[in-house]
Amino acid sequence: MTLAYKEREKKGNGARKNHGVSYRPPGQCKLLLVLLVASWNVMLMDNWPGYDLDLFTYPQHYYGDLECVLIPHGIIVDRIERLAKDIMKDIGYDDILVLCVLKGGYKFCADLVEHLKSISRNSDRFVSMKVDFIRLKSYKNDQSMGEMQIIGGEDLSMLVGKDVVGTGRTMKALLSSIEKYKPNMVKVASLLVKRTARSDGFRPDYAGFEISDVFVVGYALDYNEYFRDLNHICIINEHGKEKYRV
Ligand code: IMP
Ligand code: MG
Repeated sequence: MTLAYKEREKKGNGARKNHGVSYRPPGQCKLLLVLLVASWNVMLMDNWPGYDLDLFTYPQHYYGDLECVLIPHGIIVDRIERLAKDIMKDIGYDDILVLCVLKGGYKFCADLVEHLKSISRNSDRFVSMKVDFIRLKSYKNDQSMGEMQIIGGEDLSMLVGKDVVGTGRTMKALLSSIEKYKPNMVKVASLLVKRTARSDGFRPDYAGFEISDVFVVGYALDYNEYFRDLNHICIINEHGKEKYRV
């Protein structure tokens, strides 16, 4: 998911730095300048075998289609709570437009917004938040089709948010397509980042987990529209890929 936000009117005119991004007050400079920094995340090593499926519950219709539970639902939600805290620390007091990248980002977005709202009403940090949605489609089976379809988001004025950064190509294409809205600031939050040789170097500002280059499903992430109704993030097995291949 990506977060874009507009700075409230501030006293003083100087540019200031925040989380690797420099920006100026509205009206001064409409150029979007994003200097991405390596973000902190929970790293799952390549040799992490995941959890045995029998230790958890999951829908019966997926029995036999999964390899393991890579990240249980509870850990996902706990990690998002911390991302929300980090985001509020950086951008509390600002007006935010949260742009949820559908469909895979809807669970992440919903949980992140809930935590942001909770912090906002229970501490001296607060944000005025709007939420918008955009739909991207670039994968068939477990392969990127290269070409990205953007559906919706016509009235975007600021910006953004995201489920997985794999190669980073989708995110770069999205960022360049929203440049025309001249947001004062764009931040990208992604639940997952993959370690892959195909990466184009894109790093989100906020990342939940760094995982190896495996195809994962669940927590709204799909394989040809299946597995969105799975709570945990799991690795799909060959049988599952074959069963739902198009
Ligand atoms: P990228 O262009 O390779 O960074 O891929 C980004 C998009 O591809 C994500 O937003 C997902 O929709 C999809 N994607 C990439 N990896 C996975 C995966 O492991 N499971 C499900 N969808 C994925
Ligand atoms: Mg998908």
